Amino acid sequence: MKKPKKHIMVCASFRPSGEPKGKCHRKESGAFLPYIENEILDRGLEDVLVSSTCCLKYCDQGPVMVVYPDNLWYGNVDSEDAVDTILDALEDGTVAGEYLL
Ligand code: FES
Repeated sequence: MKKPKKHIMVCASFRPSGEPKGKCHRKESGAFLPYIENEILDRGLEDVLVSSTCCLKYCDQGPVMVVYPDNLWYGNVDSEDAVDTILDALEDGTVAGEYLL
């Protein structure tokens, strides 16, 4: 596998104990991971990797999703439509302004 050009991180609210706590987890951010992975495959975005993370410290605006190396932090990503908007922007090389933190 080649190193990814983009890395999407989705907050899964993990704490040091390993237990998920926080708004992202409660708003089922983990359920978006397979959706995002499938969208990446469907869109042919071979250079994009998705991972889940510990708490990203923006709990009040969760679920939170970050795109690196662009350093784009998105909040309130609470639907497949929101994910689609962010992935559309990633594909177009733009920013999904309505979700930007
Ligand atoms: S639980 Fe997601 S930012 Fe804290």
